[in-house]
Amino acid sequence: MKKVLVTGGAGYIGSHTVVALVEAGYEPIIVDNFYNASPKVIDRLELITKKKIKCYNVDCCDASKLDEVFKEVKPHAVIHFAGYKAVGESVSKPLMYYDNNLTSLLKVLECMVKYEVKNLVFSSSATVYGDPKSVPIYEDFPLHVTNPYGRTKLMIEEILTDFAKVNPDFRIALLRYFNPIGAHESHLIGEDPNGIPNNLVPYITQVCIGKLAKLRVFGNDYKTHDGTGVRDYIHVCDLALGHVLTLKRLDEVTDSLYIYNLGTGKGSSVLDVLHTMEKVVGHPIAHEIVARRPGDIDACYASPEKAFKELGFKAKYDLYDMCKSAWEFQENNPDGIK
Ligand code: WQD
Repeated sequence: MKKVLVTGGAGYIGSHTVVALVEAGYEPIIVDNFYNASPKVIDRLELITKKKIKCYNVDCCDASKLDEVFKEVKPHAVIHFAGYKAVGESVSKPLMYYDNNLTSLLKVLECMVKYEVKNLVFSSSATVYGDPKSVPIYEDFPLHVTNPYGRTKLMIEEILTDFAKVNPDFRIALLRYFNPIGAHESHLIGEDPNGIPNNLVPYITQVCIGKLAKLRVFGNDYKTHDGTGVRDYIHVCDLALGHVLTLKRLDEVTDSLYIYNLGTGKGSSVLDVLHTMEKVVGHPIAHEIVARRPGDIDACYASPEKAFKELGFKAKYDLYDMCKSAWEFQENNPDGIK
């Protein structure tokens, strides 16, 4: 059974990817320092998969501890999720983001070279496109970042591009996620933000359980069908499967660097999401139109063509499925995974 080291594997996308890896016959091994995830996630993953999930409580910036993990595991591949990811926090704490996100990637890469682990899937983000010239967004669109979090993603893409050029025996994939939402059907794992959610869907579900008073809709004067921001929401389980398909593809190809959008190709506005969630919960959800959030863009959604053509990837869940699963996770975990 091929071992896959999943850094940040206790996190939102990481944990769902661990489930998909088990279902595809891989042996996922988690490396996580639990800075942004509960250790209880591991128990829940074992409940879902009915397998023992090996986990190392290690910070990827800790070179010596990470070396011990690689020496012991000698994985076939690495999926690198570990990193800080709050846009707003990155603006107020840039050095913390540059140090953590870049150092962790570089230490992982150094271990991969030392232990001849040649397959890497990197968790990038559509944020590298900035405010796109048009939509849908293709992988060859210009890249432009406007915050330190996004800049760490772009810098890591550039590091991996330079590395791939002189390491032709490596197989590296950069996956640019659009907006992952939703949760596994078991309701045991899902989006579990610390404190008040920055992202739209967990904010709405916390309004629905009465933890927050109402949704603030950040602006309704964007150039979109109803004036509110449009994004490409993709079910986290679809996204997880995209990682499995990418791993399989890396075993078949001969180039050293691949870049894919992972999105649905469909744009939904804030009000589209809100109204869908109202259908799910069966009642209106309190909300108020307020000023734009600085840095937000009008519209962002993927062209999913390249991922479909080369990976066979196609998102199968629709917005109703995504909202329903997000709500069911929240309803079953009113205080998150504690
Ligand atoms: C979506 C829409 C908001 C909250 C961010 C990161 C991106 C990626 C995904 C990591 C926008 C509106 C939101 C609220 C609102 N993360 N909104 N009220 O900003 O598209 O992307 O998360 O890779 O890097 O930038 O997602 O969920 O914050 O916002 O009206 O309380 O919902 O204006 O139009 P975003 P989001």
